[in-house]
Amino acid sequence: MQTRSGSVGSLEEGKETVVTIRSTQFKSPPLRVLQLFVLYLAVCIAFSIISIYTIQHFGIYSVITTVKSNFVTCDEEPNDSLDHWRKPPSSLLHSMNDKELFWRASFATRIKKYPFNRFPKIAFMFLTIGPLPLSPLWERFFNGHEGLYSVYIHSLPSFKAEFPPSSVFYGRHIPSQCFFTAEEISEWGKMSMCDAERRLVANALLDISNEWFILLSESCIPLYNFSVIYHYIKKSRYSFVDSFDDPGPVGRGRYNESMAPEVTLTQWRKGSQWFEINRSLAINIVEDIKYYPKFERFCQPECYVDEHYFPTMLAIQASNLLANRSITWVDWSRGGAHPATFGNADISEEFFIRIHEGNECRYNNQPSSICFLFARKFAPGALEPLLEISAKVFGF
Ligand SMILES: *[C@@H]1O[C@H](CO)[C@@H](O)[C@H](O)[C@H]1NC(C)=O
Ligand SMILES: *[C@@H]1O[C@H](CO)[C@@H](O)[C@H](O)[C@H]1NC(C)=O
Ligand SMILES: *[C@@H]1O[C@H](CO)[C@@H](O)[C@H](O)[C@H]1NC(C)=O
Ligand SMILES: *[C@@H]1O[C@H](CO)[C@@H](O)[C@H](O)[C@H]1NC(C)=O
Ligand SMILES: *[C@@H]1O[C@H](CO)[C@@H](O)[C@H](O)[C@H]1NC(C)=O
Repeated sequence: MQTRSGSVGSLEEGKETVVTIRSTQFKSPPLRVLQLFVLYLAVCIAFSIISIYTIQHFGIYSVITTVKSNFVTCDEEPNDSLDHWRKPPSSLLHSMNDKELFWRASFATRIKKYPFNRFPKIAFMFLTIGPLPLSPLWERFFNGHEGLYSVYIHSLPSFKAEFPPSSVFYGRHIPSQCFFTAEEISEWGKMSMCDAERRLVANALLDISNEWFILLSESCIPLYNFSVIYHYIKKSRYSFVDSFDDPGPVGRGRYNESMAPEVTLTQWRKGSQWFEINRSLAINIVEDIKYYPKFERFCQPECYVDEHYFPTMLAIQASNLLANRSITWVDWSRGGAHPATFGNADISEEFFIRIHEGNECRYNNQPSSICFLFARKFAPGALEPLLEISAKVFGF
């Protein structure tokens, strides 16, 4: 007796079996029909068991997708229009874990010319604990420049944001799979801080139009209007990563010999964590598996990893692309372990004239007096006076 039974591989074969039943109904002896019927039942039961198992383990959604993709007819093409790659994801929410996200974010195009009109955007990435008390100032800053920026926020998962739909911050929180507490984030030098920064960069990379990536905190403010900042970033030949060799105890003194050969003492760098990088450096950050384990293991307090990991890693991989300075102003002049925080009483036109005009640096290898585009740290109480003088002092 010839049988077509045995393999239960695909639904195609299942269908064939059904056809066989119909065509043999009248010719074959009842035993053969019965055998085929039992086989068919077995296939159905097996399928049900697999479905139930999948529901239990992966949730209903993946079952629906599986079933749908199995039954899809041949003439239905998936939507492969370029829009899928060109447009930003419609929602920032996704279910990828860090490993999946970083892999996805590391996709890079090799043809440099885009086959569509690409307006390069700046990704403003806010690393916060909870709320953004200075958001009204930022709203004013962004107003009228839609299409040239995107906003990303990484806050503690326990924090629930409440921005109205009209806000530039609405729906801009990225999924944060971080397990640190508020106490931990305020403690310096935890790898979880770098993890959060990498997660921000990775999420921002998913939008192909993001060309520059700026890391900010809830206490940061812009010092110029959007056009000035956009132009300054766009025309710069270098990315603004603070990276220098500090021979002292809080520089080279934090280096651990076990980091060699990946990181040697002469390659060891220090710098502020508040960076501005371009897309190629952003990919360096998400794809790194070479330096990360070394820093995770051998740079623990008194070594503060957020002050060393990116400045060192990027200096090793792309030193010719770095300006070796930060564009975020901060005041360490009061001494101590933390920079100064400015409140209501500190805000005046003179205060910002000093920041605007009192610095010298190099921009594209030329001397420049515009050195800082952002400043920190500003307390929530500074908001009112900042809004009052912003038009006159910042130009927005
Ligand atoms: C494919 O997607 C684009 C944008 O998402 C849409 O405009 C287009 O109509 C879709 N095409 C098909 C065949 O569904
Ligand atoms: C950005 O990345 C490219 C590599 O794609 C590099 O050649 C270029 O100099 C970088 N620009 C800046 C401003 O760092
Ligand atoms: C280097 O790190 C290891 C592991 O954390 C530690 O045991 C060792 O004391 C460190 N060495 C120096 C010189 O700090
Ligand atoms: C930044 O420092 C590196 C050495 O770490 C150097 O090669 C590079 O030229 C510096 N960049 C600028 C703009 O001076
Ligand atoms: C931004 O500021 C610059 C310099 O202060 C000014 O020339 C320019 O008109 C401002 N742009 C807008 C759009 O307000």
